[in-house]
Amino acid sequence: MNTLHSIAQVRAAIARAREEGKRIGLVPTMGNLHQGHLALVEKALQRTDCVIVSIFVNPLQFGPNEDLDSYPRTLAEDQHKLLETGAHMVFAPSASEIYPQGMQGHTRINVPLVSDGLCGASRPGHFEGVATVVAKLFNIIQPDLAVFGEKDFQQLAVIRKMTQDLCLPVQILGEPTVRAEDGLALSSRNGYLDQQERALAPELFRSLQWLAEQLPRSHSQQTLVTQAAERIEAAGMRVDYLELRDAETLDTPTPDSRELVILVAAFLGKTRLIDNLRIALG
Ligand code: PAJ
Repeated sequence: MNTLHSIAQVRAAIARAREEGKRIGLVPTMGNLHQGHLALVEKALQRTDCVIVSIFVNPLQFGPNEDLDSYPRTLAEDQHKLLETGAHMVFAPSASEIYPQGMQGHTRINVPLVSDGLCGASRPGHFEGVATVVAKLFNIIQPDLAVFGEKDFQQLAVIRKMTQDLCLPVQILGEPTVRAEDGLALSSRNGYLDQQERALAPELFRSLQWLAEQLPRSHSQQTLVTQAAERIEAAGMRVDYLELRDAETLDTPTPDSRELVILVAAFLGKTRLIDNLRIALG
């Protein structure tokens, strides 16, 4: 398994794999890999012959007061995990490789509507940064398939929409959220939690489960959503948003919605956690 740092190197390596007739799979990440990331790699390995994992903490998707500087960078451990999982290649560029002239004048991809609201409202410019870097990765690597996690539900919707709108010849696959035994969604940011916070954190997913159980029986969805938010706050978190949406469109649910999704973001101390849970109807 090679780790390549330049666009030129990775293009040459991919060209060789293509000449051998291989199908290329891409798993974009920001590193500090956990079992959630590795499940995406395993999925890509099942579907393609040459799996490349990108590791790039993308400065363009971080807000000015966010955790760009403190975001965990653990390349050696990540390489070890990827080797064991069976990935074929790692692309770990520097920020200057991806943004050689800096970020300010860089072309950006804006995916309207689906990027608005939820995390898009709390993190202005975030999805523009995500869409831009993912489009660049797609153009550099030109994968047949790219795998993303449902953990970042809105991100997956943004990437699907961008791929469709720009006719990018990449198949997008979404994979279920991998959780710790107590239900907490695995996340690189869980490492920011101290012992006490880590013990409280599973209440976030428990509240989503509680809400999902109650909703089909209720006539007042909004009251239940408020109660679930109160439950999360009672556990010591500060709710950023808790919303019920149509799982396919991410719009407000309609009577025609076939599947709903509850999406949540909450602060536990300084750490912002996100999670979601789909509810099939009918
Ligand atoms: P990162 O947070 O490193 O996540 C990389 C991929 O792993 C994303 O598709 C994310 O949804 C998925 N993932 C994270 N935790 C998961 C879990 N518990 N179960 C399943 N999948 C999980 O998301 C990003 O990086 C960046 O925004 C990126 C897409 C790489 C663009 O910079």
